[in-house]
Amino acid sequence: MRELSRASGVRTALSIAGALSIATTGASQTPLRLQSPNGRHVVQVDVADGVARYAVQRDGRAIVLPSNLGFLFRGAPVLGALRVITSTRAERDTSWIQPWGETGRVRDHHRELRLRLAESAPPAREIVVVFRAFDDGVAFRYELPSQPGLADFEIEEELTEFVLADNSKAWWIPANRPAMDRYEMLYASSPVSMLDTVRTPLTLEMQGGPVVVLHEAHLEDYAAMDLARVGERTFRPALAPWADGVKVRGRTPFVTPWRTIQLADRPADLVPSVLGLKLNPPSRISDTRWIRPMTYNGIWWGMHAGVYTWPAGPKHGATTANAKRYIDFAAANRLGGTLVEGWNIGWDGDWIGTYGRNFSFTQPYPDYDLRAVAEYARAKGVSLIAHNETAMGLDHYEQQLDSAFALYRQLGISQIKTGYVNDRTAEGHAHTGQRMVRHFRTVIETAARYGITVNAHEPIMDTGERRTWPNMLSREGARGGEYNAGGPDGGNPPEHETILFFTRLLAGPMDYTPGIFDILLRRPTGIGRTPDQPRVRTTLAKQLALYVVLWSPVQMAADLIENYDAQPAFQFVRDVAVDWDSTVVVDGKIGDYVVVARRAKGSGDWFIGAITDEESRTFDVPLSFLPPGVAMTAQVYADGPTAHWLTNPLPVTISSTPVTRASRLRLRLAPGGGQAIRISKRRTHTR
Ligand code: NOJ
Ligand code: CA
Repeated sequence: MRELSRASGVRTALSIAGALSIATTGASQTPLRLQSPNGRHVVQVDVADGVARYAVQRDGRAIVLPSNLGFLFRGAPVLGALRVITSTRAERDTSWIQPWGETGRVRDHHRELRLRLAESAPPAREIVVVFRAFDDGVAFRYELPSQPGLADFEIEEELTEFVLADNSKAWWIPANRPAMDRYEMLYASSPVSMLDTVRTPLTLEMQGGPVVVLHEAHLEDYAAMDLARVGERTFRPALAPWADGVKVRGRTPFVTPWRTIQLADRPADLVPSVLGLKLNPPSRISDTRWIRPMTYNGIWWGMHAGVYTWPAGPKHGATTANAKRYIDFAAANRLGGTLVEGWNIGWDGDWIGTYGRNFSFTQPYPDYDLRAVAEYARAKGVSLIAHNETAMGLDHYEQQLDSAFALYRQLGISQIKTGYVNDRTAEGHAHTGQRMVRHFRTVIETAARYGITVNAHEPIMDTGERRTWPNMLSREGARGGEYNAGGPDGGNPPEHETILFFTRLLAGPMDYTPGIFDILLRRPTGIGRTPDQPRVRTTLAKQLALYVVLWSPVQMAADLIENYDAQPAFQFVRDVAVDWDSTVVVDGKIGDYVVVARRAKGSGDWFIGAITDEESRTFDVPLSFLPPGVAMTAQVYADGPTAHWLTNPLPVTISSTPVTRASRLRLRLAPGGGQAIRISKRRTHTR
């Protein structure tokens, strides 16, 4: 097979609709090379001695050493010696406008190499491997064509390897732990040769750069991919199983998710991370105008902090009166929505141990008049967000999906927050296994049919679903702010969010729930609060900065609304955007600090968020991203001069200063602190 020379006209100019590709089928000599459009990334594929392997280089430096490809099927012979039947090449250059996002337009320019492989001897099964090389990484997936020797199948193991060329520093959370089989752990860093089984996205800092992120894209009907270390620096997908141990069941024709290797010179260049979006099918929702990114509040933190309860009783949070109070606050402060948890019957007793089998997703508690609250919200122009905690009782929830969503639609409820608190499904399937992946899709697609957007907690990790289903707004999938509500382990340390930005957030948006103003947790708390950690480990200015740093199209003003009374700093939460047409990472170091600037869609305001770990830091930020010739005002929310996350978290200094694109701003961050800035064309007044 010859390297395809690029014919003129192969590439299109940036266009939304235009997609030209050229393909050729050739003989099957290996190794074959595939280069990214900028030439920096090379995938080399070799089929030698019957084994198919791929390797990845960046600027001539090995990133992934020759690594095996293949599967082990249950109840079928081990895959025999493979040979290449055909290879095909293509190049595509398209772009599209995101209905909402961290950047307005995404360009997908890649080259593709498609290899048809077959066993040399009977049963002569055929497997296709498709590689794509982009300027921001490489990806590959398998296709299992329809064929007599492979119809219904069960995957025992996916034998794909990632043989890392370097003992890189990995930022990881563990996978496959018997309890807490979710994503809600603190990150650790260590050389890859010390890892066990870890979650993706897995961010790796190679010695002397670059950075590598292993993850997956377009996970639709497969098990989610963790990575198990099976050699010194060799990883293999660890696929969360069905209760009977099978990893994936399917029938040909079948495609796997893409295995993605995002590449950049420095961590700051990883964001915005859109490689996964390029590997998902285009939107299935033609008119997306009903999908509204928003800041929201809710009856939520009160339960985590022990002020309210989910179940019925004297402290029940979801009462009609309380919901109206939250809706009033949202309306008065220009927040788009109000979440209410604990509104539906089923929370009493052991809802986790019984996999939520008593949950009704339509029937409210007697002290919560669902129809009246929905009507009130509608009249106030606030979106009522219905909470659906399932406790992993997937069948039970699926049986009610249509009736629940039909009711919500009738009541004008256009957003749900789902929850999956449990380690397995009621039937014993893994939390991130194929059963749950299918369920996750079912919920997204059903919600789309009813005009409902989804914010999922304890989710399947983001693999770019939002491109196809833009009603899939946000999700948790990491240790969020809920751990700061006085839990027994003291909450998230100051470095936590500086790691999330370069790990979890590379998969997609996260509903972190920032905006805790009562940092000292002065409210009476009941749940497991320990005297030695009586506060959220943050400064107040850092809570504001998180709205810009940890992007999500739905951002919660998470605290009890009374904690926002007489707080001038709350103006930033009113003002901050949630939908961006541009994102610029000014500076960042994993685990230490992040400085990011984003331009709001529509208004053209710029927002800067800067956060640090337990060290104080100063940044000198050139505002060269601002438009030329425009006089603007920066409203700055800075840590007060004596602020400190542990000893003095509350002081915030609010100031205004005229700026242009020639200006530089000096940002001083307290230990464990942050800074939030809004830059707008006209001076705005604090209400
Ligand atoms: C865990 C979720 O992360 C949280 O937001 C929710 O309040 C509880 N589960 C109860 O469903
Ligand atoms: Ca959670």
